[in-house]
Amino acid sequence: MHRDAWLPRPSFCFTGLSLFFSLVPSASSMEVTVPLNLNVLNGTTVRLACTFNSCYTVNNKQFSLNWTYQECGNCTEEMFLQFRMKIINLKPNRFGDRVEFTGNPSKYDVSVTLNNVQLEDEGTYNCYVMNPPDRNRGQGKIYLQVLTQVPPERDSTVAVIVGASVGGFLAVIILALMVVKCVRRKQEQKLNADDLKTEEECKTDGEGNPEDGTK
Ligand SMILES: *[C@@H]1O[C@H](CO)[C@@H](O)[C@H](O)[C@H]1NC(C)=O
Ligand SMILES: *[C@@H]1O[C@H](CO)[C@@H](O)[C@H](O)[C@H]1NC(C)=O
Ligand SMILES: *[C@@H]1O[C@H](CO)[C@@H](O)[C@H](O)[C@H]1NC(C)=O
Repeated sequence: MHRDAWLPRPSFCFTGLSLFFSLVPSASSMEVTVPLNLNVLNGTTVRLACTFNSCYTVNNKQFSLNWTYQECGNCTEEMFLQFRMKIINLKPNRFGDRVEFTGNPSKYDVSVTLNNVQLEDEGTYNCYVMNPPDRNRGQGKIYLQVLTQVPPERDSTVAVIVGASVGGFLAVIILALMVVKCVRRKQEQKLNADDLKTEEECKTDGEGNPEDGTK
């Protein structure tokens, strides 16, 4: 029903970070989607993406969100952002003004953005959501690792190249699939002489005149 909440968001900040994106469903709780690990250079900006899916629309009076930070596996969780009728940015000294809410609860997105990442920001970020009448609470856990070494320009160039090649590759595959589909359709047309029904779908191959397909 709310399929869009499941699609990976293209709006990640690729500011010199390599990210390992994966799903964290857990059987008995609400399904929350986060990247498991984020590696980011200090001084840059990182979006801690967190989306969830729920059978109910978000009602501001009942919806609850908590973002907490844990410096180590054993450390206590420090809450830094909360939703209680509205977004409350708790601005603990650790983060000050560097945390920004960049989600949209009505779209099941409760992401936050952390600006000017510091080495001390390394640790685990937990995103907890509860959307009554859904009974279960959902949790997403992101491990943020802060890097210092990688020269930023080189890293972003690599990211752009990788992004471009992946994009180009996908475009080629999609194009190839369309061509194959249309070729098949044309063969079927020849075989079945059933041109009228199928020619609509073949206009996308750019030849324009499906009637000419017999050359
Ligand atoms: C990142 O950390 C290194 C090592 O602490 C420091 O030399 C460098 O200036 C920092 N870069 C930024 C942009 O904060
Ligand atoms: C976690 O805390 C327990 C006690 O609460 C302690 O015994 C243990 O060594 C700690 N583990 C780590 C990795 O710090
Ligand atoms: C958030 O924290 C408050 C306590 O500060 C708690 O009452 C609430 O249930 C929590 N919400 C979620 C979704 O964990």
